[in-house]
Amino acid sequence: MAFAVPRGYVDLADLAAARGVPASKYTQGLGVLQMSVADADEDPVTLATEAARRCLQAAGRSPSEIGLCIVGTETAVDHSKPIASYLHGLLGLPSACRVFETKHACFGGTAGLLNAIDWLAAGSARGRCALIVCTDIARYSVGSAGEPTQGAGAVAMLISENPRLVELEPGITGCFSQDVHDFWRPLYRKDALVDGQFSVQCYLDALTGAYAEWQRLSESDEPLVRTCYHVPYGKMARKAHQRRCQLDGMSEEAAEKSFAEQVEPSLRVPSQVGNIYTGSLYLALLSLLYHQATELAGKRIGLFSYGSGCAAEFFAGRVLPTAAAQIAQSAVDSTLANRQRLAIPVYEELRRNDASADQRPSELPSSAKIGAALSQADRSPRFSGIDTQERRIYTVA
Ligand code: CAA
Repeated sequence: MAFAVPRGYVDLADLAAARGVPASKYTQGLGVLQMSVADADEDPVTLATEAARRCLQAAGRSPSEIGLCIVGTETAVDHSKPIASYLHGLLGLPSACRVFETKHACFGGTAGLLNAIDWLAAGSARGRCALIVCTDIARYSVGSAGEPTQGAGAVAMLISENPRLVELEPGITGCFSQDVHDFWRPLYRKDALVDGQFSVQCYLDALTGAYAEWQRLSESDEPLVRTCYHVPYGKMARKAHQRRCQLDGMSEEAAEKSFAEQVEPSLRVPSQVGNIYTGSLYLALLSLLYHQATELAGKRIGLFSYGSGCAAEFFAGRVLPTAAAQIAQSAVDSTLANRQRLAIPVYEELRRNDASADQRPSELPSSAKIGAALSQADRSPRFSGIDTQERRIYTVA
């Protein structure tokens, strides 16, 4: 696994001051400290490419070993051409590789992951790996209740028959779906619309249903020592764990203790990045492994994915003894430390430019487009704008 975030972030204390609310509402009430914000040359393609490049590098794998590449996103850059195709070109993936994009709000990455597991189980891999990339930029209107729960980033994962981080339990997943309007983004909008408090209820209802179904299917009584939840903001994961503890018949006091031990380590990285939609659950997993992989070796953990609209899935896996050495390659601290704190007027200016960002003419001709060389270049791609035929142009900065 590896992740990538934009160069800039907003500190939630700065945002609270600008919006005239106590900082504690955001930092404690929502559990968010910082949120990543994308610049004009950063988009879901550049973030996905950077996360995937880092992932391949950390695993010591070459693009030629990828037989399936699925990108989960709810902030696609084109109605037709998938981010997976851009990734195919930018990373230099083989032509004998199935590539596509999945959408179901924040559940899209999990849909890709579970599809990859079925691909392995069906025998289609023939020694190759699947590359799953979750990439998104979460945007709500400036000044809205959702604003402090934005974020941007990508998580890339390699799925193979010989995992090094977590061995998932194939075929045993608890699903829950229903048709609800808790969060949506009409085709003509850049920022999402949400029925905030209702979305919290939908999340908790979906957790209740998915967990019950998983319990019904699970063939093992072995306890889950940690659980990673979808993290739109840290407090939501806390509410989710409280709900699960309640379903397990635990007291409120026991649930609080359980949260500190079983969930809090997974929220440390997300609290500094914000909501990255499809990647949020996997950023929580990365955070958990980064902080505790050694003590969790051999232990069973739970994972809960939620996508508005809605679809949810609860599943489990076992942390492997190789996880600590592998996750140490993911440069978590340096990636976060190398970011720049954006002043609120700078962030607001970026947001004002969002509407026209996809139509900005590129200063470079389409012949400047870079391809397979990127995987060796050790540098992130940049979105430079569109050419005269309205094709997106990516270059190495
Ligand atoms: N100090 C400490 N805590 C404070 C505080 C203060 N000064 N002031 C308020 N709080 C607490 C509140 O008590 C509340 O805590 P509880 O939830 O434990 O009661 C918390 O801070 C938030 O306060 P409000 O409920 O008043 O906040 P809000 O209504 O302004 O906004 C929100 C909250 C509705 C979640 C809003 O941020 C939002 O719409 N976010 C986007 C939607 C979302 O993330 N939904 C999550 C489920 S859907 C999903 O998961 C999919 C997805 O990724 C989008």
